[in-house]
Amino acid sequence: MANSQIYFTLTAFFLLVVIISPTQGGSQPDDGAAADRIWALPGQPEVSFEQFSGYVTVNRAAGRALFYWLTEASIQPLSKPLVIWLNGGPGCSSIAYGASEEIGPFRINNKASGLVPNKFSWNSLANLLFLETPAGVGFSYTNRSSDLLNTGDRRTAKDSLEFLVRWLNRFPWYKTRDIFITGESYAGHYVPQLAREILAYNAKSSHPIHLKGIMVGNAVTDNYYDNLGTVTYWWSHAMISDKTYHELINTCDFSRQKESNECESLYTYAMDKEFGNIDQYNIYAPPCNNSDGSLATRQSTMRLPHRTRAFRQKAGYDPCTEKYAEIYFNRPDVQKALHANITKIPYRWTACSELLNRNWNDTDVSILPIYRELISSGMRVWVFSGDVDSVVPVTATRYSISQLKLRTKVPWYPWYVKNQVGGWTEVYEGLTFATVRGAGHEVPLFKPRAALQLFKSFLKGEPLPKS
Ligand SMILES: *[C@@H]1O[C@H](CO)[C@@H](O)[C@H](O)[C@H]1NC(C)=O
Ligand SMILES: *[C@@H]1O[C@H](CO)[C@@H](O)[C@H](O)[C@H]1NC(C)=O
Ligand SMILES: *[C@@H]1O[C@H](CO)[C@@H](O)[C@H](O)[C@H]1NC(C)=O
Ligand SMILES: *[C@@H]1O[C@H](CO)[C@@H](O)[C@H](O)[C@H]1NC(C)=O
Repeated sequence: MANSQIYFTLTAFFLLVVIISPTQGGSQPDDGAAADRIWALPGQPEVSFEQFSGYVTVNRAAGRALFYWLTEASIQPLSKPLVIWLNGGPGCSSIAYGASEEIGPFRINNKASGLVPNKFSWNSLANLLFLETPAGVGFSYTNRSSDLLNTGDRRTAKDSLEFLVRWLNRFPWYKTRDIFITGESYAGHYVPQLAREILAYNAKSSHPIHLKGIMVGNAVTDNYYDNLGTVTYWWSHAMISDKTYHELINTCDFSRQKESNECESLYTYAMDKEFGNIDQYNIYAPPCNNSDGSLATRQSTMRLPHRTRAFRQKAGYDPCTEKYAEIYFNRPDVQKALHANITKIPYRWTACSELLNRNWNDTDVSILPIYRELISSGMRVWVFSGDVDSVVPVTATRYSISQLKLRTKVPWYPWYVKNQVGGWTEVYEGLTFATVRGAGHEVPLFKPRAALQLFKSFLKGEPLPKS
C-alpha cells in the first residue's frame, strides 16, 4: 500500500515535472506553449526534437486565428535560429507544401497512414515554424466569413506580424533568437512584405524582433518582368513556337492586371495547343496519374484569364503528394494531435483555398521597392530559383532582380554539392542569387540535398561552395 502510494506520488510528480517544466531549458513557457506541445502525430516515427502547434488569435473582433506548426531543431535547438517558412498560392498551406513535401522533418507515406523521416530536413540546422497564412488557408480560420472575400497582400502581412508578436509572447525563449523568413512562389510577396512590416514594427517597439534575413525561391516579384521572363522561358525551352512567342511579345502588355482578349487567346493557344500534357512546375517530370491511370495535370486550372492565371501560381508540385496531405490532415486523430480545427471549421482542410485565390483583393505590382528597402536596412537577402520551373521561371527572376542594378561582389560561378554542380550563383552588394540545377518550382522537393546546402550557406551568410 505504502509502496504503491509512493509510486503514485512519484509518478504524479514526474508527470507534473514533464508537463510544467520548461522543455527548452530557458525561461518558463506560458500555458499556451505547454498546451501546444505535440506528443506524437499518428503514424509518426520516434524523433528527438520537440514539436508544437496551435492557434494564435490575430484579430479578436473578426475572430481570426492563424495556425502554426513548430518543429524544433534536431540538434541543440536552443542555439539554433528560428526560421519561418511560407508557401504562396495565394491561398496555399505551408503545412501541405513546406512541411510535408519540402523542408519539414516528415513526409506523408502514400497510404496517408503515417509519416516517414525526411533526411534532408532543414530542421537539422534550424527551428522551423510553418505558418498557414492568411486566415482561410489550411487550419487558419476566421469567424467573419466576409474576410474570405476581401483578403489580400496587405492583410496577410499585418496578420502575420500580429501572429509573430503574439507567438513570441507564447514562446518567450525565442525572443532573443535570430529570425529568418523564407518561402517560395507567391510567398515572394509575403516574405518581403512581412519583413518590411517587422522593420516598421521594430522602429516603434522597445522589444524589436530579431529579424536577420529573408530567402525566397521561384518568387513572384514583379508583374512586368515576371511575365516577360515567363514567356521567354517557354520559348527558350522549346515549349512554344517562334510565332507564338513573337505574337505574345508584340501583343501583351505584361504589366497590366487584365490583359486584352487578343493576348489572352495567345496564352490559351500556347497552353492548349503547344505545351502538351506536361507538369508546368517541373517541365521534365512525369505528371501525376489519376487513379484510373489518366494523367491529372493542373492544366485545367491554368486555362484562365491572364489575371487569374498570374494569381494561380500555386505553391505546389503535384506528383500526387498533396493528395496524401489532404487525406492525412483531414483525419480527426491527426487534427486532435495537432490541436487543429478546434472550432469545427465548416469546410475540409485543403492544400490550397480556391476561394481565397479567386477573391484576392490587393496585390503589389512589384516587390522590387521592398527589396531596396530591405537591402538598405542591412538585411540578408537571398533569392533562389529551380531552373526547370515554367511557372515562375529563372528568367523571370533574373529579369526582375537585374532591375535592382546591384554591384557584383562575386561574379557568376557554379556552386557544388557532393562534387556535382548544384546550380549557379552570383553575389551582389546586398543580395545573393542562386539557381538550383534541375529543380522544379518546389526546390527542396526536387533537389533536397542541394536545397539543404543552399539553406546552410544562407544561414551562415556565406557564398555557396565553389567546389
Ligand atoms: C470563433 O468562434 C468560435 C465559436 O464561437 C469561438 O470558440 C472561437 O474562439 C472564435 N475564434 C476567435 C479567434 O475568436
Ligand atoms: C503513371 O502511370 C503509368 C502507367 O501506369 C506509369 O508508368 C507511370 O510511372 C505513372 N506515373 C506516376 C507519376 O505515377
Ligand atoms: C473540421 O472539423 C469538422 C468536423 O468537426 C470537419 O467537418 C471539417 O472538415 C474540418 N475542417 C478542417 C479545415 O479541418
Ligand atoms: C482591397 O484593396 C483595395 C485597393 O487595393 C484597398 O483600398 C482596400 O483597403 C482593400 N480591402 C481590404 C479589406 O484590405
